[in-house]
Amino acid sequence: MPEKGITKILIPEQEIQTIVKSLGREITRHYRKNGGELLVVGLLKGSFVFMADLIRSIEYPLMVDFLAVSSYTDATVSSGEVTIKMDIGESIQGKSILLVEDIVDTGYTFQKVIRLLEKRQPASLKTCAFLSKPSRREVDVPIDFFGRDIPDEFVCGYGLDYAQKYRNLPYIGVLGAVGSGKPLRVATHE
Ligand code: IMP
Ligand code: MG
Repeated sequence: MPEKGITKILIPEQEIQTIVKSLGREITRHYRKNGGELLVVGLLKGSFVFMADLIRSIEYPLMVDFLAVSSYTDATVSSGEVTIKMDIGESIQGKSILLVEDIVDTGYTFQKVIRLLEKRQPASLKTCAFLSKPSRREVDVPIDFFGRDIPDEFVCGYGLDYAQKYRNLPYIGVLGAVGSGKPLRVATHE
């Protein structure tokens, strides 16, 4: 039985693991070929569960750090705005950065964070997102390694939240009453 409020299990636990293993293989191949000192940077909080599984499926020496940002994508501010709540603990200059996000929706968060990290002159910057909602995209962002496209439904679990809840669900579920991503779009990110 799914958790209260979840109307449908979109991606069951086993399928999540298949997706993550496949991403891990792809990422491993890429860095074995291209080399570099790999620092995997997770966007908090949403990515932490995915990140924990992902790094264990990468067979290449790596380090881990996190970045927490707040998005203000109020309808009146069409471009959105991202402020850093917690910065990466070290310099990324000269390192191979893999930025990890739970879900790319409009793309504004990813776009802003990519621009911010590029200014710090990493040797390379690649991106990885577990989920993507292509029908909601407003800005084009590169996702070098990605798990799965999903329809325009509000999803929770496997690190993703609604009002900070549901992150502990082992599957990706659709939250019935919420519909599209809109309720989370005002002055919140994670
Ligand atoms: P973007 O800037 O519109 O791409 O927003 C991305 C962020 O919005 C993600 O990192 C999530 O924190 C949040 N988000 C977007 N869609 C969902 C969803 O369906 N469930 C949970 N969080 C979501
Ligand atoms: Mg997020």
